[in-house]
Amino acid sequence: MLRIKCLLLSLFLLYSLAGFTQGNNYVQDYTKFQGLALTPPMGWNSWNKFACNVDEKLIREIADAMVSSGMRDAGYTYINIDDCWHGERDSLGCIHPDLKRFPSGMKALADYIHSKGLKLGIYSDAGSMTCGGRPGSRGYEFQDALTYAKWGVDYLKYDWCNTEGLKAEGAYKTMAAALKKAGRPIVLSICEWGNDKPWEWGQTVGHLWRTTGDIFNCFDCIEDHGTWKSWGVMQILDKQDGLRKYAGPGHWNDPDMLEVGNGRLTPGEDRAHFSMWAMIAAPLIAGNDLRSMTKETVAVLTNKEVIRINQDSLGVQGFKFAVKDSVETWFKPLKGGDWAVCFLNRSKQTRTVDFDWKKEVVKDDLSDAELQMAGSEYGVKDLWTGTSLGTTSKRLKAKVPPHDILMLRLTRK
Ligand code: GLA
Repeated sequence: MLRIKCLLLSLFLLYSLAGFTQGNNYVQDYTKFQGLALTPPMGWNSWNKFACNVDEKLIREIADAMVSSGMRDAGYTYINIDDCWHGERDSLGCIHPDLKRFPSGMKALADYIHSKGLKLGIYSDAGSMTCGGRPGSRGYEFQDALTYAKWGVDYLKYDWCNTEGLKAEGAYKTMAAALKKAGRPIVLSICEWGNDKPWEWGQTVGHLWRTTGDIFNCFDCIEDHGTWKSWGVMQILDKQDGLRKYAGPGHWNDPDMLEVGNGRLTPGEDRAHFSMWAMIAAPLIAGNDLRSMTKETVAVLTNKEVIRINQDSLGVQGFKFAVKDSVETWFKPLKGGDWAVCFLNRSKQTRTVDFDWKKEVVKDDLSDAELQMAGSEYGVKDLWTGTSLGTTSKRLKAKVPPHDILMLRLTRK
């Protein structure tokens, strides 16, 4: 009798367990796709230069220019359409592009971009409306993710306007789950401006997170818009303080897109901006008009040695080592024992850098890397002139013009 009762109980338990697992369709996977953005993403985004003036002709021409300028071959991959591509949702809730601006539709555009060996990025917002007042994804996350996957989208920048009552971590996890379910590997770029410390929860959710408000096209200024501010290149750099420990392969601090080539920075400032974004392992997302770049802008954006520092597979964000007379010394440990070094002159005067490698102890507690001076030396290469500056056995003396940078690679002999 006892055995029969026991058997019946086990059968009942098994049955309920089966019922529970079958009926439980509500378990979500709130994590991002693994294996994407193992080095900082590189590409282009429409916002800094074109704001809401986007259409398919522009995007196709930018893709063409990315190839003809040599940027694709230098490593740039993503063509990201920012705000304002949206039309209306239909009666079933599906989002459509603005057909006046994108008459061929997004799938055709994605196909074109893919045919060039590039990838397509798109933009949405966790709230009811985007910052530009277009339909947001709130309440439509799974549907939108399916639509993006169907179009062939590879990257989603997900913004944070009009999110009344939402909490960032939960909202971004919903979109991560939606993208996962849609099944296409899509990079998720968290854009909530650092408000809710995304570096503390973003690593499993997205591949990069904005750390600040928007960049402003100046080297050293703050632009006050009344209810919000945007930040110059140096202001954004200062706001990265303390965040390097959160970055690594597949999860990056995002200090916003580049202003290189947008005409307000001097050639030296463009170089310094690009070098520092490389040093802090920032995504390199160009924000200028690729169709009409000067030779100088192309030279900055396609400097292969500087890009190599950014894309180094160790994925360690660089750190500020010292500041003297408004000259900042930065170090970034690289795979295999090499180092990148920058002397950033933030002052308005030319400064002389005087650095005795043998006298300095450079040790990175985060990665455990150490500049090994005892009994060994490194070759020193200037990454902007391409010339050798000898070795670390010789003390470095160099002039750095105002708002400019000296960027070096130390290669172990
Ligand atoms: C926010 C973002 C920007 C840009 C605009 C678009 O301000 O931070 O990068 O996407 O919205 O409206």
